[in-house]
Amino acid sequence: MPKTPDYFQNKTIVITGAGSGIGRATALIFAREGANVLCADIKGDAAQETVKQVNATGAQAIATTTDVCDRTAVGNMISAALSAYGSVDFLFNSAGAAFKRAKFLDIDDDLWKKTYDLNVNGVLYGMQAALPHMLDAGQGVIVNMASMSHKRGGPGASIHYASAKGAVLTMTLGVAREFADKGIRCLSISPGPVDTAFQGTASTSAEMMQQFRNDVPMKRFGEPEEIGELVLFMCSDACEFMTADTVYVNGGGGWR
Ligand SMILES: NC(=O)c1ccc[n+]([C@@H]2O[C@H](COP(=O)([O-])OP(=O)(O)OC[C@H]3O[C@@H](n4cnc5c(N)ncnc54)[C@H](O)[C@@H]3O)[C@@H](O)[C@H]2O)c1
Repeated sequence: MPKTPDYFQNKTIVITGAGSGIGRATALIFAREGANVLCADIKGDAAQETVKQVNATGAQAIATTTDVCDRTAVGNMISAALSAYGSVDFLFNSAGAAFKRAKFLDIDDDLWKKTYDLNVNGVLYGMQAALPHMLDAGQGVIVNMASMSHKRGGPGASIHYASAKGAVLTMTLGVAREFADKGIRCLSISPGPVDTAFQGTASTSAEMMQQFRNDVPMKRFGEPEEIGELVLFMCSDACEFMTADTVYVNGGGGWR
């Protein structure tokens, strides 16, 4: 929670991947705090559904259909937030996916490229589009979704994805340190398994789902809201000395 009551009133967050899972949950949490929310997703109808849910709470949201792999589209997303609300105070890069499970020797160029396009380039484009405006304003917070898999390397199933999330961690560290004296903070979150559509998209088998659950000392998946509340804290004035690091949210460890 913020230190100052109403801290998020009239501030604006741009969320990628806001049509589902962690992105949608975070949109609703920022709306609860009175922030303006731009909900971006490659699936425009899903982003619109999040906007409907946000606006039903009395907060203000707009949707854009944005493929984060497209630098021009990402620039347009930031412009849309500036036109609607006049500022981009926070950027949450949540869009990401593992696409499919594959053993290391089965990772082909197509899987490697699309994994990096989405999880690495998408985050790069978002940060490069938002930062000039944040620097003009002398303040801003960027939160990037990494994954606990970066710590394990994803052997046997997802080295493509785990290594891309490792790149997200390193980019976050560098950006945070480059702009630390300009009023900008940049952080990443490294969750263990979270109960969203993500595992379905990655074709995770029922056996793997059970294995993930067994590996978590709390014996359950996280809920998307449990990540969204952390994004809120990171963007708030309650943690102004916090930048560059990743925070693990994983029920005590696990993720093989
Ligand atoms: N769920 C987990 O177990 C888990 C664990 C660790 C990290 N993560 C990370 O959390 C983030 C959010 O995942 P989630 O669990 O909410 O999954 P999700 O599948 O519920 O949501 C991902 C959203 O991103 C959107 N998206 C996909 N490609 C896009 C693109 N090119 N441009 C814009 N939007 C795009 C999807 O349409 C979807 O709405 C991802 O970066 C993921 O890698 C998830």
